[in-house]
Amino acid sequence: MNILVLGSGAREHAIARALRASALTDELFVAPGNGGTGDVARNVAVNPMDAAAVLQFARDSDVRLVVIGPEAPLVAGVGNALRDAGIAVYGPDQGGAMLEGSKEFAKQFMETNGIPTASYATFDALEPALTYVREQGAPIVVKADGLAAGKGVVVAETLEDAEDAVRACFDGAFGDAGAKVVIEECMRGPECSMLSFVTQGRSFPMAPSQDHKRAYDGDTGPNTGGMGVYSPVPIVTDEEMSTMVDIMARAAAATGADEEARDYRGTLYGGFMLTEDGPKIVEFNVRFGDPETQVVLPRLKSDLGEVMLAVAEGRADDIALDWSDDWAVGVVLASEGYPGAYEKGDVILGIEDAEALPGVTVYHAGTARNADGELVTAGGRVLTVVGTGATFEQARETAYEACDLITFRGKQLRRDIGKKALQGRSAWE
Ligand code: AMP
Ligand code: GLY
Repeated sequence: MNILVLGSGAREHAIARALRASALTDELFVAPGNGGTGDVARNVAVNPMDAAAVLQFARDSDVRLVVIGPEAPLVAGVGNALRDAGIAVYGPDQGGAMLEGSKEFAKQFMETNGIPTASYATFDALEPALTYVREQGAPIVVKADGLAAGKGVVVAETLEDAEDAVRACFDGAFGDAGAKVVIEECMRGPECSMLSFVTQGRSFPMAPSQDHKRAYDGDTGPNTGGMGVYSPVPIVTDEEMSTMVDIMARAAAATGADEEARDYRGTLYGGFMLTEDGPKIVEFNVRFGDPETQVVLPRLKSDLGEVMLAVAEGRADDIALDWSDDWAVGVVLASEGYPGAYEKGDVILGIEDAEALPGVTVYHAGTARNADGELVTAGGRVLTVVGTGATFEQARETAYEACDLITFRGKQLRRDIGKKALQGRSAWE
């Protein structure tokens, strides 16, 4: 079959590479793609947010399955438009996407379905929100209700920071996303992501993974889209693992029954915090994680094309997942200045040498080809360099060895991805 993947990150490169290896794939397209997806698929200049253009391309190119990578088109209902036209879609409808598109909706969903999460209150006016913050005291978490590209969350350690964050939301710092504000209890503990294939109200969990959100070593500096990741997660106990699997199953069952989130077909991403009272949900996302996907999919031995088609067509009984025992560690190479302003157009060298090392795969995000055909930087997060190995240490060493072979001006990376996990649980205390 012909498959179209929407998106342009390292996540979509990882999805495209896994689909390229599928027995079901004939032609593979990525819209708009990046400098790496063009090697495994055909990049097409279609805007993922333009439902009519996506539908037109899918029809013209005989596409049977569309895989929607990022949240924005899902929340905008691009999936609905394609499904209504009879095309199989991997990714939830607009109703299901509200689990990520509205934090208030997600909190109500968790409350209704007995899913453990931080206690919260929602406000649409400044004064009551400030009063509530003062009553609760710091630390406290302030979130813009809508999609704010990962920037709408402030974990406030002081009352002053919390009040500033509330004011910023209502002053329009996050546009419409901040018209409503969700204020949450501050949870403590290591974070852990569990992605799950969901269809017909059933959950098929993937291996757990752990992101590193801060820009610099030692979990310092500003929040980013994610600077490094590994899978599986050695500090998770068997008991925590089974609680997370249960929570994902409960969430999936509710998406099969809930009026607004009905018939969810795609990835449900559980962002967990492993608290003293057990795993609790920090947030749901309605898509694969980035960079989580880059360490989770290489460990999937099953045919991703078959799994995605079964999810999209609502054939839960046909899904069986087989995982490799290998460990995977992914390190993000970013442009100098990221997550702030950065330059583009710097030549990237050494990817072939890096990929010649056993167990190394390099996923592209912000890359492009210049007029001379050279690979150049074109975004904040440039590459995710993944090393796999029989042990965590080996995977980590391989990833860093590969990182050192790749050069571009201003290359920025964290040197401590996975370090805390090697130290054990006490590293979080
Ligand atoms: P979100 O955009 O909801 O994933 O939040 C971004 C990050 O903020 C999370 O990955 C956590 O590190 C942190 N965070 C969000 N909610 C809470 C909470 N209730 N307690 C502590 N940290 C939180
Ligand atoms: N790695 C965090 C996310 O994909 O939302």
